[in-house]
Amino acid sequence: MRKNIIAGNWKMNKTASQASEFLSYVASRMDSKDEVVIFPPYLSVAAAVAALKGTKVRVGVQNMHFEDAGAFTGEVSADMVLESGCEYVLIGHSERRKYFAETDETVNLKVKKALAKGLIPMVCVGEDLDEREKDLTFDVIARQLRRGLEDVAPSSVVIAYEPVWAIGTGKTATDEQAQEVCAFIRKSLSEMGFDAAEISILYGGSVKGSNITSLMSMPDIDGALVGGAALTEDFINIINY
Ligand code: PGA
Repeated sequence: MRKNIIAGNWKMNKTASQASEFLSYVASRMDSKDEVVIFPPYLSVAAAVAALKGTKVRVGVQNMHFEDAGAFTGEVSADMVLESGCEYVLIGHSERRKYFAETDETVNLKVKKALAKGLIPMVCVGEDLDEREKDLTFDVIARQLRRGLEDVAPSSVVIAYEPVWAIGTGKTATDEQAQEVCAFIRKSLSEMGFDAAEISILYGGSVKGSNITSLMSMPDIDGALVGGAALTEDFINIINY
């Protein structure tokens, strides 16, 4: 179901004790009507779930494997994610694609596994600077959606549009640039048979307290996936925008 979602992707930051302390503080200041989701590193998930007990804030992981179990050193399964108290899983973040050989094909396997297990996949798509400069943005996004969501039954996925050139650079896409691609994503999902009007599409890339309100005023932007600012006090301004 389409709803506004503000998500914090902590990447490889915050130990369990840091997660507890930060989230207790965030929860005490939170005044948000939107769904708020935190993606801590695996080892900080239990502390996050405990600190957020009794609040409406959800927890997710930043990745998972598509197999149920087996000899996959260093990986975690959907059942482990579910049992730890998570409801969401981030899939295909550009850093996973760049540093950990994530492909549209593994994204697809993970999305299907997440849905089969009852986790909500938040699927990341986005072009890099070179692709944008060569006018390939729509081609790249269309390919990532088509392959990443191949044979996925129209169901509860969340999409995060994150232009790679805006991640961690302080260079946010303009409201119009973000809206243009999010509208394109909605149209593409509809052409693929999804009930696109019911899918939440988030923007990510240098979102801060100072730009969240105007991004959220765009008709096809239903939320934000926040990296750097989700580690700081500014996250409270973002969720309470
Ligand atoms: P950023 O990261 O907000 O630090 O740009 C966003 C992300 O990678 O999800």
